[in-house]
Amino acid sequence: MKPAGHLQIAPSILSADFAALGDAIAMVERGGADLIHVDIMDGHFVPNITIGPPVVAALKRRARVPLDVHLMIEEPDRYIEAFVRAGAAMLTVHAEAVVHLHRTVQLIKSLGARAGVALNPATPVVALEELAGDVDHVLVMTVNPGFGGQTFIPRSESKVRSMRDLLRNAGSTAPIEVDGGIDARTAARIVAAGADILVAGQAIFGSADPAEATRALRAAAAAAVAS
Ligand code: DX5
Ligand code: ZN
Repeated sequence: MKPAGHLQIAPSILSADFAALGDAIAMVERGGADLIHVDIMDGHFVPNITIGPPVVAALKRRARVPLDVHLMIEEPDRYIEAFVRAGAAMLTVHAEAVVHLHRTVQLIKSLGARAGVALNPATPVVALEELAGDVDHVLVMTVNPGFGGQTFIPRSESKVRSMRDLLRNAGSTAPIEVDGGIDARTAARIVAAGADILVAGQAIFGSADPAEATRALRAAAAAAVAS
């Protein structure tokens, strides 16, 4: 059984007030956020468009905890260096967006950031089999990427279990991050299945008190670890 301290809470600022992102970060840091999850969307890989490296650099100046940058963009290799320079401590690319995924993972690591690969709901865990020993973390999407506030896909639970098995068989202890539709109820289920990093947008910034919502999410997840 994993100790509860292993869990990390990564509030996604996608659901925060974009005119007050510095304040949003301060609120969730007060609630004990471990990471700040930053969603980068290009209007091609996903239908939505968000922000780029200059905004990430501005967030970096305000954040005390590491920035966890999730690239939902085509041709991520073209922008990886810019996002690492902007202050991404963790950089995640989508397996579906990259042809030479091994090269991309090595590129991120060579620049000094932690390299992660995200899988869409329709992408099987075996897509990561050959890279299980190379990645610093894995992101299992629990909704189809593109928007905050969507409904958790229940099948994700067994997918996280399979991913944990795949990593274990490769001798990897890389954390599994989950993203999409995570709230106190789904957090307990997905942590019991083996998730280590919980991304949450709407459950935190859709609440009247994001600091308290961050604490509540950790408590719900920790209860699942203990049970
Ligand atoms: C969705 C993004 C998520 C999003 C999650 O494509 O990758 O990080 O902010 O939002 P919620 O927690 O509201 O589902
Ligand atoms: Zn995300």
